[in-house]
Amino acid sequence: MEKLVMNRRIIQHFLLLLFLCLMNYEGVRGTKILNKPPMKTIKTEYGDVYDCVDFYDQPAFHHPLLKNHNYHPQMKPSLLTKESIPTASRSATTLQPMGLSDGGCPVGTVPIRRYTKEDVIRQKLLPPPEDTVHVVDPPLTNRDNFNDSKTRRIKPLKGYKLAIVSTDDNPNNKFGGASMIAAIYNPRSTGQQHSACRLKLIKGKNIIQTGWRVDPTLYGDNRTRVFIHFHDGTNSCFDLLCPSFVIVSQNITLGQAFPNTSTIHGKLYDMAFQIKWDQEKGNWWLFLDNVAIGFWPKEVFDDFGNFATKVEWGGVVYSPAGVLEPPMGSGLYPLMRSTTVNAYCRVITLLNDKGLNIDLLGSKLPTFSTTPMLYTVIDVPNYPGLDYNHTILYGGPGEI
Ligand SMILES: *[C@@H]1O[C@H](CO)[C@@H](O)[C@H](O)[C@H]1NC(C)=O
Ligand SMILES: *[C@@H]1O[C@H](CO)[C@@H](O)[C@H](O)[C@H]1NC(C)=O
Ligand SMILES: *[C@@H]1O[C@H](CO)[C@@H](O)[C@H](O)[C@H]1NC(C)=O
Ligand SMILES: *[C@@H]1O[C@H](CO)[C@@H](O)[C@H](O)[C@H]1NC(C)=O
Ligand SMILES: *[C@@H]1O[C@H](CO)[C@@H](O)[C@H](O)[C@H]1NC(C)=O
Repeated sequence: MEKLVMNRRIIQHFLLLLFLCLMNYEGVRGTKILNKPPMKTIKTEYGDVYDCVDFYDQPAFHHPLLKNHNYHPQMKPSLLTKESIPTASRSATTLQPMGLSDGGCPVGTVPIRRYTKEDVIRQKLLPPPEDTVHVVDPPLTNRDNFNDSKTRRIKPLKGYKLAIVSTDDNPNNKFGGASMIAAIYNPRSTGQQHSACRLKLIKGKNIIQTGWRVDPTLYGDNRTRVFIHFHDGTNSCFDLLCPSFVIVSQNITLGQAFPNTSTIHGKLYDMAFQIKWDQEKGNWWLFLDNVAIGFWPKEVFDDFGNFATKVEWGGVVYSPAGVLEPPMGSGLYPLMRSTTVNAYCRVITLLNDKGLNIDLLGSKLPTFSTTPMLYTVIDVPNYPGLDYNHTILYGGPGEI
């Protein structure tokens, strides 16, 4: 509890600093106050600007609970965590290089996106995070279960529409990680709409996510970009916009745009998204196409030091009240049950408390759609071909 209050204070303090910073500078670098000039600045062809910031100056280390950390630029996940998912041959899909041009940032620095005043103002219009924690008063006779996810229900907020596959939400579940290889699409989203595909790990009110999204409010354009999201029940943010994620990669970063996206009956591009718990250190690592990008340090959660109790895979869209719903995935319902026309998450995997694969081949998982008229999802526990295994297909046209 103390930690929670502290976390809230930290964020308030942080926002104040950000505000002061905005008053004084034309450009803001991430959420960090400029005190040292960047070692190098990288501009992408999509107009993004990344500053190569000293590893120890990155946003995460503004978290007071990380004051005495011993994290360093050569940090690697411990041995078992490093074991990659069998990403399969890409016989039907294309891997696209995601690195920043020019080799990325110099050793000892990490790329931090520079945000303009306009970006920060626009980001104030971001809707509240999808999950609201709804604490159900437990019966007096059953106070022991108060901390269970059964009594702390998580409900999707109004405005969000989901089409997902998930595990059950059993507080006794102990998942040490999960992954998916997701097809990258570019569903049309404008204004405050967004359309995304994500892998989500949940324990109580602690939630971490990764995937791709089209989100003009967050990024200022309609490109499909890699994202992460952090939520501890009180504070939440995307990418590196709050002190919650330590980035170690010098050349692949969050918020980066995909050069190419999939087309129906055309070329397919996909990416492996993986989140794994470090059995030794207790941090949650993010891997993109099996490259370690960074981690959510155990210190930033009040109670996510070990396992996740629920995992979700699939699509989510958002539209503010009175605005039509955007398309999800490829924009088609998964009626054809085909990875050549439908958005998919293939080779979905789940790890147990030892970090080992739980066999999901052939076992059906629960599906959930908030709005089956607009978006649907199907679970295919054994998709034909060794490249797919347990696959989910999801999507829909929205209100076009
Ligand atoms: C699919 O499952 C089979 C059988 O377990 C396994 O041999 C194969 O490596 C899996 N494919 C992928 C891409 O993981
Ligand atoms: C992405 O698309 C461009 C043209 O649209 C093409 O030149 C390039 O080779 C593609 N990249 C990959 C990795 O397929
Ligand atoms: C990205 O950086 C890593 C070290 O962090 C390096 O091993 C790798 O070769 C780099 N890749 C590219 C495309 O620059
Ligand atoms: C519930 O969680 C709080 C804070 O995480 C802890 O202090 C308390 O002992 C827990 N209660 C039970 C019944 O486990
Ligand atoms: C994205 O925005 C550009 C420029 O505003 C526009 O030309 C393009 O049609 C948009 N793409 C989609 C998929 O909405």
